[in-house]
Amino acid sequence: MILVTGGAGFIGANFVLDWLASTSESVVNLDALTYAGNLESLKSVSKDPRHVFVHGDICDRSLLDRVLSDYQPRAIVHFAAESHVDRSIHGPASFIRTNVEGTFTLLEACRAYWSALPPNKKEAFRFHHVSTDEVYGSLGPQDAPFTETHLYEPNSPYSASKAASDHLVRAWHHTYGLPVLTTNCSNNYGPYHFPEKLIPLMIVNALAGKPLPVYGDGQQIRDWLYVKDHCSAIREVLARGQLGETYNVGGWNEKPNIEIVHTVCALLDEMKPDPAGSYARLITYVTDRPGHDRRYAIDARKLERELSWKPAETFETGIRKTVRWYLDNTEWVANVQSGNYREWVNTHYGDRGAS
Ligand code: NAD
Ligand code: DAU
Repeated sequence: MILVTGGAGFIGANFVLDWLASTSESVVNLDALTYAGNLESLKSVSKDPRHVFVHGDICDRSLLDRVLSDYQPRAIVHFAAESHVDRSIHGPASFIRTNVEGTFTLLEACRAYWSALPPNKKEAFRFHHVSTDEVYGSLGPQDAPFTETHLYEPNSPYSASKAASDHLVRAWHHTYGLPVLTTNCSNNYGPYHFPEKLIPLMIVNALAGKPLPVYGDGQQIRDWLYVKDHCSAIREVLARGQLGETYNVGGWNEKPNIEIVHTVCALLDEMKPDPAGSYARLITYVTDRPGHDRRYAIDARKLERELSWKPAETFETGIRKTVRWYLDNTEWVANVQSGNYREWVNTHYGDRGAS
């Protein structure tokens, strides 16, 4: 079996669902169930004996030792993290704790477990670290997309904590020989995405008739990838990636934020027209994010060249599926908008004046 950390979050849950649907192997899913962890996303596999959920923290060394010894995984896919840039600006401490200290604790537990494995299992073992393109910093309008050799220039507490975790993973390979793989992916979107992030927030707010808050001038560029394509890339790298290597994952879909918001509005106008008029009337420019990175773009040619990976969805097909999913899963949305999430929205947008 494999061990997944953070498998109740957005990408982790999609990964667990896809893994159980496309392989015969079991998954132990270790997740602390922070505000971002949601077992409802895994409802369809709650009775599947191949999915074992362990409620716990990656900073808890004795729990990690116990889980590794009890389940003897052949690989670990490490998603668990604090992932929201705006939250990292309001409160960076939990990002340092989970992303840096948690990754360190997991690496140390894995090193002890892996060192004691018999030679054939030791050779086959893999530690797959799931990271982000944000570690490379921000691109100018004419710059080439990020390759795997781009300088690390993280600008937010979130990206700095992820960069630190990447460095730890690299060092544990270089120094101790731990068989690691790292993927650095661009912005994901799709089902089970928590509505604090741009695309799900715009869908959920539009349907509720609330303002659609666009930071600054809305011209920041992100490179969007449908979440299931990220999952297929991780499966490929885990199966056939070169040890110690990093692979950039992206969809060649660079779009300014304001275009994303207009696309979401146009799809909602088509699928669930509002008698009050186009959802675009709700677009509201608000104060910019401090230190806001202007542009991310991923050069994913290494992954394509070495492992023949390509995304299955274009942005047009992926965003249509995503909007449809949110319209069909209003119960999931209602449940995820718990008190905790509402509190965050009030803190974050309450003092963010319209500009
Ligand atoms: P998410 O915030 O939706 O989920 C994170 C999960 O980790 C949650 O289930 C949470 O409960 C769990 N978690 C948090 N702290 C924990 C701890 N101390 N111990 C155990 N579990 C803990 O995040 P996501 O968007 O699914 O991102 C998953 C990973 O992918 C992260 O490492 C993130 O940096 C990376 N990534 C995300 C994107 C993206 O666009 N969302 C893109 C590239 C890389
Ligand atoms: O690039 C990969 C990263 O993408 C991941 O590593 C992060 O975990 C993930 O959260 C995401 O980070 P971003 O900051 O790019 O995503 P977010 O959805 O928060 O914002 C996307 C863009 O939209 C960004 O330029 C900020 C802007 N934005 C966001 C929100 C929530 C708005 O204009 N309004 C909003 O209300």
